[in-house]
Amino acid sequence: MQSNLDIPGYDLKKSCYTPKTLLHHNNMHSNEELFQDLRKRREEANLGGGQDRIRRQHEQGKLTARERLEILLDDGSFEELGMFVRHQSHEFGQEKNRPYGDGVVTGYGTIDGRLVYVYSQDFTVFGGSLGQAHAQKIIKIMKLALENGAPVIGLNDSGGARIQEGVVSLGGYADIFLQNTLASGVVPQISAIMGPCAGGAVYSPAITDFIFMVKKSSYMFVTGPNVVKTVTQESVTSEELGGADTHASKSGVAHMACKSEAECLMAIRELYSYLPSNCEDSAPRKATSDPVDRADHTLDEVVPSNPNKPYEMRSVLAKIVDDGHFFELHADFAPNIIVGFARMNGQSVGVVANNPAVLAGVLDIDSSIKGARFVRFCDAFNIPLLVFEDVPGFMPGTDQEWRGIIRNGAKLLYAFCEATVPKITIITRKAYGGAYDVMNSKHIRGDLNFAWPTAEIAVMGPKGAVEIIYRRQIDSAEDPKSTEEKIIEDYRDRFLNPYVAAEYGYVDDVIEPSSTRTRVIRGLEMLKNKVVNNPKKKHGNIPL
Ligand code: HXC
Repeated sequence: MQSNLDIPGYDLKKSCYTPKTLLHHNNMHSNEELFQDLRKRREEANLGGGQDRIRRQHEQGKLTARERLEILLDDGSFEELGMFVRHQSHEFGQEKNRPYGDGVVTGYGTIDGRLVYVYSQDFTVFGGSLGQAHAQKIIKIMKLALENGAPVIGLNDSGGARIQEGVVSLGGYADIFLQNTLASGVVPQISAIMGPCAGGAVYSPAITDFIFMVKKSSYMFVTGPNVVKTVTQESVTSEELGGADTHASKSGVAHMACKSEAECLMAIRELYSYLPSNCEDSAPRKATSDPVDRADHTLDEVVPSNPNKPYEMRSVLAKIVDDGHFFELHADFAPNIIVGFARMNGQSVGVVANNPAVLAGVLDIDSSIKGARFVRFCDAFNIPLLVFEDVPGFMPGTDQEWRGIIRNGAKLLYAFCEATVPKITIITRKAYGGAYDVMNSKHIRGDLNFAWPTAEIAVMGPKGAVEIIYRRQIDSAEDPKSTEEKIIEDYRDRFLNPYVAAEYGYVDDVIEPSSTRTRVIRGLEMLKNKVVNNPKKKHGNIPL
């Protein structure tokens, strides 16, 4: 980036050009003078809030709005719109300070040659705060994105509503929230948080599909540590209250906490490689040299013979998807369920998997919400769903019941029920109770439901079942303990296998684990022209 010191007429103290250095257009000037004047204006705009503030931004380990776009977009692809926009505010002496761009860089460019619309807030101008002109710039590119069917990627670094503009900036936020909502499900919307994002400003990223945060330099909260202290007497730092790790693990607000801004921007580039540009498009295919018929026999050993022993579902996924590459989201939030993108013979798929290594893979409130939102995203954007199931049921207990496991578990159920994309389930081990129904069962329009021979499909585990239906028989037996053991063994033989479900056609086939990759790829190919329409309605009413 060019230094302001090299630019003639730059006022170091004010960090902007003195009006005298720019041309007055009521006089006659040669074309060359006009071009020179345009270049100067561009240079001024490119400097945002000036070199001092850029230096301060760098000292805090942060890149500038433009530097971020350079990393995010393909080289030389950025086309800026609205570079010369300035605010029209006359409050608090604002008319004397009207920097070009108004604190946000907006436009379009490409990622791997595919169109995206972007905005990048410039903290060096009024702390990236949002006033009317700033909001209108963002809305302009959001409308273009909607009309032209390409994603919006927002890079947030802002002190929130511009205080000097008062209610007008609140209105600007509301205008953005509305556009976010109208665009939801039409084009993917991705947010990166690369600095402050506080107060009502959090609700624009919150409506978007994915939030990426940068560790140590970004935070999001509705009210900051000072207000928290006053209201609840809690002492908490910004990082603890709303830093990247907090939101990636505790609240689930962030889908990924990245080590650096560059890592964050590269992750967004990768995310987009799995997504279509809009809801009428399909995700791009990526050629792979991973054979369709690759049979990994180590899969045959993954499920332990002891049904209560955990294993890591990620190691199962890695053996099945193309090149063992899985782009995981929400990795540290509700880790008893795994969600993310992968490819099968080049085709993008959304993976939802119970993880028996954490809480035995049980479904609880957080994992249901995490899974539901991901399923709905995939369904909205024509990305087939691949479900790996090993679930002992829903989490019992007063904490879960009182916080609403009923209405929250219903979210995942509803999301799978309404999804019309190709849906394939692999039951690796347990599929118990209501969780069997919920995890994309045949009954809720699973297209291909496979089970491994290690599958156990039943209303509940053997001990619980036997205690309920054979309690009297066991109590009155001469030797209750050995009677119970024998009945459990019988129950296990009769029900804890995939064949009862297969007899009813609820499982389409029982397959050897090593053949899973081939069977899934062939299934996806078979389902590629699937058309299922839900009944016409204004919109459903998912239990929120
Ligand atoms: C106008 C702002 C501003 C704001 C920062 N600045 N926030 N100008 N409106 N909201 C300006 C500062 O005056 C300063 O200008 C420059 O940006 C950098 O700010 P600093 O405070 O020097 O930076 P730093 O120390 O890094 O602190 C950053 C900050 C702090 C934590 C964001 O500025 C801050 O607390 N700002 C106010 C945050 C806030 O309360 N916003 C309203 C939230 S409510 P100079 O000229 O000195 O460089 C909200 C409602 C949304 O957003 C409603 C939607 C429904």
